[in-house]
Amino acid sequence: MAKDLIQDNQYNIGHICTRQQCEAGNADKVAMRWVSSHLERIDYTFSDLDAESNRFANALKTLGLGSGDVFFTFLPKMPEQFFAFLGALKHQVICGTLFSNFGEDALLDRLGDAGAKCVITKKSFLKKISRIRTQLPALRHIIVVDGEDDPANGIIGYQSLMAAASPEFTAELTSADTPSVLHYTSGSTGKPKGVLHRHNSVLSQNKTAREILQLDPDDIFWCTADQGWVTGTSYGIIGPWSIGVTQLHFGGGYDAAIWFDLLEQERVTIWYSAPTALRMLMREEPEIFTGRKLESLRHIFSVGEPLNPEVILWSRRTLNHDIYDTWFQTETGAIMISNRPGLAILPGSMGKPVDGIEAAIIADDGTPVADGEQGNLCVKPGWPSMFTTYLNNDEVYQQKFRNGYYYTGDTAYRDSDGYFWFMGRSDDVINTAGHLVSPFEVESALLEIPEIAESGVIGVPDELLFEKVVAFVHLHAQYTWSQELELKVRLYVSNKASSIATPQEIFVVDSIPKNKSGKIMRRVLKARYMGTDAGDISTLDI
Ligand code: PRX
Repeated sequence: MAKDLIQDNQYNIGHICTRQQCEAGNADKVAMRWVSSHLERIDYTFSDLDAESNRFANALKTLGLGSGDVFFTFLPKMPEQFFAFLGALKHQVICGTLFSNFGEDALLDRLGDAGAKCVITKKSFLKKISRIRTQLPALRHIIVVDGEDDPANGIIGYQSLMAAASPEFTAELTSADTPSVLHYTSGSTGKPKGVLHRHNSVLSQNKTAREILQLDPDDIFWCTADQGWVTGTSYGIIGPWSIGVTQLHFGGGYDAAIWFDLLEQERVTIWYSAPTALRMLMREEPEIFTGRKLESLRHIFSVGEPLNPEVILWSRRTLNHDIYDTWFQTETGAIMISNRPGLAILPGSMGKPVDGIEAAIIADDGTPVADGEQGNLCVKPGWPSMFTTYLNNDEVYQQKFRNGYYYTGDTAYRDSDGYFWFMGRSDDVINTAGHLVSPFEVESALLEIPEIAESGVIGVPDELLFEKVVAFVHLHAQYTWSQELELKVRLYVSNKASSIATPQEIFVVDSIPKNKSGKIMRRVLKARYMGTDAGDISTLDI
């Protein structure tokens, strides 16, 4: 454990990332260099971060939230998101984060399942929540960062709330097991599941930030991930700030020239991004990268999808840097397997388990497979950031632990040198641009469209996104396919699920293959799309 990370048994993540940093002499050090999408810059010191998160903790207390209640952020990347996240944790309120692209069904599933009492959002997102509000009886307060108080509708303006709140707050002693962060993750069947973490997770996030990402207090770290995803919380908030590292946060989206201006001008030393973004950079004109003064940059890391060897080779050639792939999941809370400086990179491999983690390839019957053979990627339970349950679904949580291992749902093999190689998922979950999309959620949204009688959704290989979402739909007899209908379908899925889940291709078919118990045979759809053999289809109904 990092010396002095846990002091006097205080595991509170909000406290460790702010107050404790101030007490360690970092009060005036920049914690966050905020760069807005218009490239305005604001620096927040650890003392600012402490005061703002204290105010937010006090505000939640005034609103009647307490230990174990659930609060969500539903915001784009913006400073208030960080204050709210840390403030909620300080007050031992469980903090969930919602991706700002989520549509109303996606919001309803998550806010409803968690029984959220409060959510913070911005005016332009408010109507998505307003439309589902009557179905969310537990939701008492909506804080609007750029809004005014509207008590009749349970809406509270952030500015007035924070102005009335004291910047002094002392986090109560928080145990290792106190619930902390909640992220919903998509499976191939059923609704998204709430992955619950505990304050103890900071041990893993701090350790991997130091030992894998190589962060030390003098670094300027940039993690491009949105806070709606586990990378954005574990490594865009907790790991780095628990070390007292300055983080760059940029409110704009992908823009190669701006990104490289930022890397250069802000003297970023460690950069953590994702394969889709790196592949997009690879497609840019080479001039964008020539003459760049990147001497501050020490290392580049990647996560979320397989990192193709070509990207590493491109980076070596163009940026004069290796890219270190890292593997983890919402459920694992921190990096489990990775490449890292000091370990030779085998391009295409995820690297080796991090110190203290025992990963293995296990057959379905629980026996380890020989090196070189594909099987289930498993991790021996017991690391601090291991999730503690799927909220309201402990049965499925328990099913993930078998034969003394946690089954990750990925398939992989280990070579004779101990390197792990990702092969795919053992379920139908789609990984598009690093975001897991449930085919079930997209199929459900499609079925809500009156013209659609049946639907089947799959992920197919894509050069840029790793996988893209492809839908097969069967229309009710009285309807015909048209451009207008296609547009309507796309918009509907985007508004209901999210823009990430919107099918890139839609095929109209006479029927959707199902097995005798009515389960959609996505394997058959995929084989049809790929022009390959579907294998054994003896249980197929049609
Ligand atoms: O399938 C693996 C893939 O992303 C899944 C986890 O997704 P999520 O819970 O959303 O967390 C993403 C951010 C950590 C994994 O089960 N995945 C993650 N990293 C890699 C990867 N696949 C291949 N290579 C990786 N480095």
